Amino acid sequence: MTIRFESRSGRLSAVQGQVHAVENVSFGLKVARRWRWSEKSGAGKSATGRSIMRLTEPLSGSVLLDGVDVLKLNQAERQRDRMQMSFKDPFASLNPRMSIGSSIAEPLLINRRVRPSEAVNRVVELLRRVGLGCASA
Ligand SMILES: Nc1ncnc2c1ncn2[C@@H]1O[C@H](COP(=O)(O)OP(=O)(O)OP(=O)(O)O)[C@@H](O)[C@H]1O
Ligand SMILES: [Mg+2]
Repeated sequence: MTIRFESRSGRLSAVQGQVHAVENVSFGLKVARRWRWSEKSGAGKSATGRSIMRLTEPLSGSVLLDGVDVLKLNQAERQRDRMQMSFKDPFASLNPRMSIGSSIAEPLLINRRVRPSEAVNRVVELLRRVGLGCASA
């Protein structure tokens, strides 16, 4: 995958050139395996993640999920609920106005992973799995 951005400057934000953010990066991931990409700041990790999610369009490349190029799918066919980004700054990722329960329930409800009536039970189960279960009185 190759990703470029227009670089702009000046009062009228004229296009000055192109930022070569990512040049021909290529990798494969196996199901249920973790993979850590450690590279220096500005190497293009976030830009790659955003392009995989189609939050920005790459200049070229493909993103194959079960053999299907998600970059070629239309909006209705996209399977965003099968992919997600985990942001490294939790203070920027979590809404301080929402409870932890609401924060966990929100993506499950948006992606229709659970029915509203099941959401509380699912959230409690997930919190318990990571050692954050409620102490019984
Ligand atoms: N919207 C944008 N417009 C112009 N340049 C951008 C844009 N987004 C990223 N860049 C540039 O693309 C390059 C890659 O940035 P990116 O944020 O992907 O790096 P990163 O590996 O995630 O860094 P970090 O470890 O600091 O998060 C950098 O040179 C950055 O300045
Ligand atoms: Mg980043």
